Amino acid sequence: MPNFQNPRGVTLAEARGPEIVEICREAVIPIVEDIPYGMLSFEPRKLTSLHELDPEHVIYLGSFSKVLAPGLRVGWAAAPEWIRRPLQLASESTVICASPLSQALAADYIAHHDFRGIIAHAAAVYAERAAALIGAFDGRLPEGSTLTQPHGGFFSWVTLPEGWTTAALLDAAIEEQVVFVPAPRSVHRARVRENCGWRSPSSRRSGSPRGRGGWGWRSSAPPAQCSGLAEPVAGA
Ligand SMILES: Cc1ncc(COP(=O)(O)O)c(C=O)c1O
Repeated sequence: MPNFQNPRGVTLAEARGPEIVEICREAVIPIVEDIPYGMLSFEPRKLTSLHELDPEHVIYLGSFSKVLAPGLRVGWAAAPEWIRRPLQLASESTVICASPLSQALAADYIAHHDFRGIIAHAAAVYAERAAALIGAFDGRLPEGSTLTQPHGGFFSWVTLPEGWTTAALLDAAIEEQVVFVPAPRSVHRARVRENCGWRSPSSRRSGSPRGRGGWGWRSSAPPAQCSGLAEPVAGA
């Protein structure tokens, strides 16, 4: 996942793409580039995909779900000739057939509408949502927290200070009428994937607790109920 990665929202440094491709080519290791958010850059500069660097060894996996409609769940592969047949068989043995209705909708859209135009539109919408998401955190996260600044895609990765766990976070979030699935206490410190794909900036700014977009942690200390869960976590 080189560009606008899920879950961290980060992008591979430009210089590393050619290095990775070169190392894998020498070792005869094919690369699967899972890049459903790759077209959703917030900046005019186009990022090079690994597939463009080496179309003979890199299989590019794209998705219509992130630009046309999330419910479509249909994507595409740009793959070198030598692996197309095995890929097709693997796909058939896994899903039998991707939804024909979704495939027909995607095919019709490409044939009769402005697909490049909708990508540019989607990127502009998500850029605004990402800015609202990052803005909503301003002054709300405990001191010592970090968050990644997305330059495309949907995600920002929030890391809360030592002493926080996702279980503790859940207690605080419930107070704000927000629920999420916490990572097991034994394996995770408080890191949260924030997704800006769905909520509009206006709803993030609205008065509802969820709509505030932040989770209401104004204090620099973990909430009281967090203390029992604040044990250091191995491998966090
Ligand atoms: C990295 C990554 N790959 C693939 C997918 C699946 O995309 P689709 O909606 O086409 O199933 C997602 C998200 O849903 C994703 O984040």
